[in-house]
Formats: sequence, C-alpha cells, structure tokens
Amino acid sequence: MRTHYCGEVSESLSGATIEVAGWVHRRRDHGGVIFVDLRDRAGLLQVVFDPDTPEAFGLAEHLGREYCIQVRGRVRPRPAGTANSHLASGQVELLALELVVLNPSATPPFTLDEEANEELRLRYRYLDLRRELMQKRLRQRHAITRAMREYLDGHGFVDIETPMLTKATPEGARDYLVPSRTHPGKFFALPQSPQIFKQLLMMSGFDRYYQIVRCFRDEDLRADRQPEFTQLDIETSFLGQEELMALMEGLVRQVFRQVLGEELPDPFPRLSYAEALRRYGSDKPDLRVPLEFADVGDLVRDCEFKVFAAPAADPAGRVAALRVPGGGSLTRRQIDEYAALAGRHGARGLAWVKVNDLKAGREGLQSPILKFLSDAAIAGILGRTQAADGDLIFFGADKASTVNDALGALRLQLGRDLGIVAAGWRPLWVVDFPMFEWDAGERRWLAMHHPFTSPVDPDPAALVADPGAGLARAYDLVLNGSEVGGGSIRIHREDLQSTVFELLGIEAGEAREKFGFLLEALRYGAPPHGGIAFGLDRLAMLMSGADSIRDVIAFPKTQSAWCPLTDAPAPAGAAQLAELHIRVKLLAPPGE
Ligand code: AMO
Ligand code: AMP
Repeated sequence: MRTHYCGEVSESLSGATIEVAGWVHRRRDHGGVIFVDLRDRAGLLQVVFDPDTPEAFGLAEHLGREYCIQVRGRVRPRPAGTANSHLASGQVELLALELVVLNPSATPPFTLDEEANEELRLRYRYLDLRRELMQKRLRQRHAITRAMREYLDGHGFVDIETPMLTKATPEGARDYLVPSRTHPGKFFALPQSPQIFKQLLMMSGFDRYYQIVRCFRDEDLRADRQPEFTQLDIETSFLGQEELMALMEGLVRQVFRQVLGEELPDPFPRLSYAEALRRYGSDKPDLRVPLEFADVGDLVRDCEFKVFAAPAADPAGRVAALRVPGGGSLTRRQIDEYAALAGRHGARGLAWVKVNDLKAGREGLQSPILKFLSDAAIAGILGRTQAADGDLIFFGADKASTVNDALGALRLQLGRDLGIVAAGWRPLWVVDFPMFEWDAGERRWLAMHHPFTSPVDPDPAALVADPGAGLARAYDLVLNGSEVGGGSIRIHREDLQSTVFELLGIEAGEAREKFGFLLEALRYGAPPHGGIAFGLDRLAMLMSGADSIRDVIAFPKTQSAWCPLTDAPAPAGAAQLAELHIRVKLLAPPGE
C-alpha cells in the first residue's frame, strides 16, 4: 500500500512519484490549498492538496484528525522560506495526486500534540501510543530487550519459560490468585517472580538461564511499581558472587552502550548496606546528589536538648546532620516547608543551624537550638559537617530508620531544589545486606531479600546464635536512586535452607507444604547457584527519561490497579463462577 514511510521522504526523492499511508496529524485550509501533516511510524510528511486535482482535493476537504489515509503524489521541494528544520522530511512536501480514505476517525478525545490527563490517555491508549514520544519509548524498550538478549545469548544463557499458574512465591507481596475449575476450592497463585523455578532449572543442569518475564504482585502502587511488571530474570550455577556481579555489570554496560551510546563506569562502585544508610539514609542512594549525612550523636549525647540527647543515647536511635551548601539564604518559610516534608516521612521536627560567620563562633550562628548546645558540641558539628559561611545544617534525631527516611527524602529534595543533581548515570552496587530484619509489630524475623538467600557465613549454628548479625550474599543494583535490580547467591544445602525457614518462623510442616518440592530438590546434588532480576520497566523508564513506569508499558494499570481501557478487573458472570465452584459474598463493602 505504500512505497515509503512519511518520515523518511527527503530531498533525494524530489520529482519522484511515491505512495504513503498513515494518519492525519493536522489539516490546515489555506484558502484554496489544503495542507495535511501525514504521520506514520517514521514521522510526519506535509501533503499538499491542490484544486488542480479536484477529486483528491474534494476528499481532502473532509479529512479530520486521525483519519487513516493513503496518498499517491509527487515529491517536490518546499517553496523557499517554508522549510521545516524540525522534520526529517522538512525540506520537501508531497503534492497529492490521489487520495484514498482507508478509514475515517471519530473526533479524538485529545489531540496528539498535547499531554492529556493520564486516565484519558489510558482509556484511549491506542491513540496515546500513536504519539511520537510513546512510539519512541516503546521502541527504546525493544532496543533494551534486544541488547539484553544479545549479551546473554553471547554468554551462553538459555531462555526458558516458567509457569504463570503456580504456587505462592515468597517475594513479600500479596499474591494474585486464580481459582481452579478442575480442583474445586483450590487456587493457583500468579508468580511474584520465577525465583523457585529458576533455582530448579539450576538443579536441572541448565547452568545459565534467563527469561524476560512478567511478575505479579498485589502491593501498594507507586510511580515505579505496577501490579504486573517485567523482570529480566537470571540464574547461574558455579559462579561466585564476584564473577556473577562482573558478568551482570557487563550486561548493563552493554545495554547502555548499545541503546544510549553511554559508557558506564567499570567496575561499578559499591557500598555496603550499612554505609549507604550511614551516608545517605537510603539503601538506594542517588549518588548524583552531592550531599551526605554526618553523625553527631556522640557530640550531643550529654546536651540539655532531650530531642537530641535521648536518641543519641539509644542504640536504635540516630542523630544526624545534613549540610546544605548555601542554605543560609533559605527563608523561614522554605525551612518550614522542608520540615513539613521531613514530617511526612515521620520526623517530629527539623532542627537547623545557619552558619553566617564561622570566625565569629557562637555569635556567627543562628538557630533555635543554639542555646542547648555546648561550645564543644557546636565546634564538633561544624567540623564534622565541614560547614562554611552561608551554609545551613539540618538535623534529624529519632529512631535511626526515621532519621534515615526523613533526612534521606530531604537530601533528594534539596538536590533538586538547589539544582545540584549531577547529570549522567551513577550506577552502584549495594552489598552486605543483613539476612533478616526484625518486624517489631509481628515480633518475628523477616527475610531482607528472600528466604533462599545464602548467608555470608554458611554455618547454620552461627545464624541461629545471632540472626540479626548475619549478613547475606545479596546485592542490589541501584541507578540514579532507583533500585533496578536485586539478587543473591542462594542456599544450596537443605540443612541451611531448613534453618532459615525456621528462623523466619516457617514451621517444618508449613515449609514442607509450601516449599517441600524445593527442599527435596536440594537433596539431589543441587549445585551452588545464584542470580539476579532486573526491573525492566524501571530501567526503560530511567533510560527514556520518563517519570513513571506506566510511560514505558504499552497497557499499564492505574495507581488503583485498574485498567481504564478494558475496565478490568470486572465482576465474573454467574455461569463462570458456578463452573469454578465459587459464590461471591463480599465480607466488607469495597472501600471499607
Ligand atoms: P526483587 O523483588 O528485588 O527480586 O525484584 C527485582 C527487581 O524487580 C523490580 N520490581 C518492580 N518493578 C515494577 N513494579 C514492581 N511492583 C516491582 N517489584 C520489583 C525492581 C527490583 O529490583 N526473585 C528476586 C530476584 C533474585 O533474587 O534473583 C526478585 O524478584 O527493579
Ligand atoms: P522544640 O524545642 O520542640 O521547639 O524544638 C526545637 C527545634 O528542634 C525545632 O526546630 C524543631 O523542629 C526541632 N526538632 C524537634 N524534634 C526534632 C527531631 N526529632 N529531630 C530533629 N529536630 C527536631
């Protein structure tokens, strides 16, 4: 139906008769001449309808936005002064000789030049996806997966599919359940990840596995979380942690080189989990922001200010300072806004000190808490934060986790507000995660990564003696403050796996019921193995500069896990439910 793509028509075709097909992006009537910007996957082409070709002209008078048309015409240079340097085809236009309306269009609910509200965009996603930006993002996503596959194919990985209808997989979110017709009253769970299956594939001798795979997690959604999302899932046998990390770094470097022409550092820098929290208050620090915390608890432990002294003396507490270069010019109102931000992250206040004149000592400072602090404490704080004239220092004092959350959020916001977020890519491995974290509410240990992660010390007795102290052979890949991947070396011995289940409060019977097949498989010569999963949506989002993973997913769900296009989820019909042996009786009205 066509000889050329619109966006690829250029001066070299001048004089040629060609055929193009696509959508009416815009139509302009210029007294006697009609201009149509015709759009296809390659871009726009200006088509001119002249009354000298009355048949085509007559049809063109009725063209509206998004009509699907086919045009035969002659390429000619645009008249002097009318060239459009923004378009690949901007030097030429197509003089229409023949027009076929392949399909008219109802008036689109938004024009494709504007960024409409997101619900409307999702409701008419097929129109939204016609936009150049969305075409570009999804094509780039394809370029990413292609680069991934090339690298993995080149390194001996085998692409193997794993079940979607399966049993609960422990990644810590709620499962999506699917009722079984053939087993009344029983349910499949959709996989939160292929974790157990990829481990079984190592026990099956495949050695190197990958899969670009959908995962399902019923959790609270955010800009970087979807109920179904895609992982590049990887597992390998007989590789140590260092070898595996190097191989995966190579993958990420290759993807950036191939897709963006960007060279990432070699090797990626690393931080331990503890150091990441100490310096940035986050286990996924954005290294583009050049601000760091300073611990000052030891300096204020004995001060009169209980707000500082109490957490300073508490082993679970923390008092940290965050120096804001040039922050002395912040107004009271701006400081109050930062305090409100810290408050939204749990802080009960946000103390501050303005450094007007270091040489003047106490007199050169300005702060509501100055009166509580000794000269020695002040000198110590100024020294440790390396404050200079014109700076401001913020303080967080509370449970360590609260201080980390609040000052961590503040650090990112300040980076943006001060315009000091460095350009470029800052990948980072975070390593040496604790094996477990204590859930104070439930009074039990939770796996920090997942229950199949190997401790650094493989002695089960050591783990039992002090679960809180054990480190995991786990690693996260962080890119510009976003967790884009996570993995670990796995447990490959049944005794250690059973011990970890016990520590997690999974009783022997329950372990057998839930993971018996895995424990059994571990008894048949399971090889040492480990792997990682990358969040493909997050990587694609970062690489395309989008703000939300919804912008790199063709048909995403809203924040409330709803699809405005199909209106899923929807009630099931009585007959279907009967077949599934199910009667629906809601325990509480929705929304309560
Ligand atoms: P994890 O749970 O860390 O590890 O997931 C791996 C990566 O997947 C991405 N991700 C998500 N992306 C979008 N929406 C979500 N709801 C979502 N949840 C996670 C993140 C994350 O880093 N089986 C292990 C991997 C392993 O140990 O090999 C796992 O799933 O980028
Ligand atoms: P107050 O004496 O309660 O008025 O507090 C004096 C200063 O300390 C104010 O600037 C508060 O915002 C700040 N502040 C109070 N609680 C905390 C806290 N937990 N961490 C940091 N600063 C705090």
